[in-house]
Amino acid sequence: MSSAPFSVEEARGLLDAELADAAGRGGLLPADVHELKVRWLGKKQGVVTALLARLKEVPKEEKAAFGAGVNALKQEVEARLDALEAEATARAAARAEAAKAVDVTLPPRVPPVGRLHPLTVVRRRIEHVFHGLGYEVADGPEIETDWYNFESLNFAPDHPARDSVDTFFVEGGGTGRDALLLRTHTSPVQMRTMEGRRPPIRVLCPGRVYRKDDIDPRHSPVFHQMEGLVVDEGITFAHLRGTLSAFAKSFFGGRAEVRLAPTFFPFVEPGVDCAVSCVFCETGCRICSYSGWIEIMGAGMVHPNVLANAGIDPERFTGFAFGMGIDRIAMLLHGIPDLRLLFENDVRFLDRTWG
Ligand code: DAH
Repeated sequence: MSSAPFSVEEARGLLDAELADAAGRGGLLPADVHELKVRWLGKKQGVVTALLARLKEVPKEEKAAFGAGVNALKQEVEARLDALEAEATARAAARAEAAKAVDVTLPPRVPPVGRLHPLTVVRRRIEHVFHGLGYEVADGPEIETDWYNFESLNFAPDHPARDSVDTFFVEGGGTGRDALLLRTHTSPVQMRTMEGRRPPIRVLCPGRVYRKDDIDPRHSPVFHQMEGLVVDEGITFAHLRGTLSAFAKSFFGGRAEVRLAPTFFPFVEPGVDCAVSCVFCETGCRICSYSGWIEIMGAGMVHPNVLANAGIDPERFTGFAFGMGIDRIAMLLHGIPDLRLLFENDVRFLDRTWG
């Protein structure tokens, strides 16, 4: 780079040309100015330094004028490059600021929005109907004792009805009625509620339940139930029927009818299977197995032994209870073919509005 000039005039001409050229390229940044500074003012090979080195070749009588000329040139170079540097620094700062700015013309990036799980939607809808009928929501533990899950509900220790639910027992509990297990239904919350408050009682108990079931499209070791319990003086089977009928119409639509058929559950007497008329067809379809009816819950009048176990006088009070599968109702409503979809957390399934 030490195309060492010549004379101060030549150097000045070169400087003008180079700066004009740089200005022509436009938008000098600090690094460009730095390069120019090294080229012109660098201590080793800078143009001005090289020019000064010529001093010894200059005839004696011209030395003073030459030296003064080089000094004047040096000051001019410094001044011009300093000015350029200030411009370049301001330009760089402005660019950095612009890069930070929000470009309001860009299309918005829509953040992923969470949605309610279909089971939550169905649970809330059921709760909504019963809230309207004056029910409260009650809660109970998922790890239960044999007493609450079975015995207090009239399942004697060797009662065959226990075999209808394969039970997970939990290590660390006692024996007999103190044995610990994962609750197989939400019915134990009936007993806990009755112990905790006196009639009139009107509660709804949603929750997770566990059975040692295989996993297939219709079974899962974990699923969800919704229990209902009403206890008061003068409660009759007619209240049960009227309540289930009101629920069916409100939940499934005004045309839904209720059909009750006798069956056995140890904690109610009489016990019934409750079906609603198929709301998906007129003449029979696959959902109702061409019967026109869909079974949605078990129900019945609370057994006097159960009331007595909770310290409620069965001579004075009566009640009814019901229990339904939330998962099954969600599957019915939305035509969900496989129970496992509800638990696998696949966002392609969850990212829908299950209104
Ligand atoms: N607990 C029963 C089950 O899991 C469902 C049930 C039936 C609940 C009758 C009730 C009832 O409250 O009265 O299969």
